Amino acid sequence: MANNNPIGLFDSGIGGTSIWKEINELLPNENTIYLADSKNAPYGQKTKEEIINLSIKNTEFLLEQNCKIIVVACNTATTNAIKELRAKYSVPFIGIEPAIKPAAINSKTQTIGILATKGTLNSELFHETSRKFQDIKIVEQIGHNLVPLIENGQINSPEMNMLLHEYLKPMIEANIDYLVLGCSHYPYLIPQIKKILPKGIKIIDSGEAVARQTRKVLEERDALNDSSELGKNIFYTNSNPNVLKSILENQYQIIQKEF
Ligand code: DGL
Repeated sequence: MANNNPIGLFDSGIGGTSIWKEINELLPNENTIYLADSKNAPYGQKTKEEIINLSIKNTEFLLEQNCKIIVVACNTATTNAIKELRAKYSVPFIGIEPAIKPAAINSKTQTIGILATKGTLNSELFHETSRKFQDIKIVEQIGHNLVPLIENGQINSPEMNMLLHEYLKPMIEANIDYLVLGCSHYPYLIPQIKKILPKGIKIIDSGEAVARQTRKVLEERDALNDSSELGKNIFYTNSNPNVLKSILENQYQIIQKEF
C-alpha cells in the first residue's frame, strides 16, 4: 500500500461529503476519491441484501483506483454492510454510526433523540449499540424523504421545513437534550434544525470522530501521506452533478460516470 494512494469514500449520494469535509480538514495532504452513488439513493429504504450489494459495487470501484483505506461515509451502509465488507476485503474500512454514546453519556434529561434512515434504525448494529444504554430513553425517528429532498437540492424548501417540524416535535415534547444525526446527509440540515429546536438541545453528528479514526488507522499502519503538498480530491457521481457542485462550492473536480 503506497502512502500517496488515495483515501476512498462512498455514500448513497452527496451526504457523505459532510464526512469528506472533516477528513479533508484534518488530513489536507491526503489524496481522496469520493463516490456519490446518487443514482441508487436513497439506500435507507432498501433491503440489507441490496445495501450489501451496492456497497460491494462501490468498494470495487474504489479498489480499482488503488484506495489504501475505505471510509463508508453512510450510516445505512455501515450498519448493514460493514461486517460483510470487512470479511470480503483486506483493505481497512472505517464506518460511521450514529453517535449514541456521547449523547447518552452527557444527557442530563436521560432522554435523547435520533434522526436516521429506516435502514439504520432497523439494523442489528444499531440495536446492539442502543441496548448498551438501557437507562436512557431514545426517541427514534425515521427521516422519511429527507435524503431525496437533499439529493434534489431542496435543502431549504418549505417541504423540508415542514417535515423537520413534524419529526422533531415528538422529541421536543419528550424533553430530549441531545439530538443525534444518524445519517451523513443530515449535517446539511443543521441550520434549519437549529431554528426549530429550543436553545438548550445540542446536535451531534459523527463526522469529526470518523476523521480522527481515519487518521488513527492510517497512523497505526504507517500509511499517512507524508507529502507537504495539498492532496488531490476527485468526486465521482453517477447522477446529475449540479447539487454536488453546489455543496462543494464549485471548487473541486467532479466526474460524471456510470458505476
Ligand atoms: N447518507 C446515508 C446515511 O448516512 C443516507 C442513506 C440513504 O440514502 O437513505 O445513512
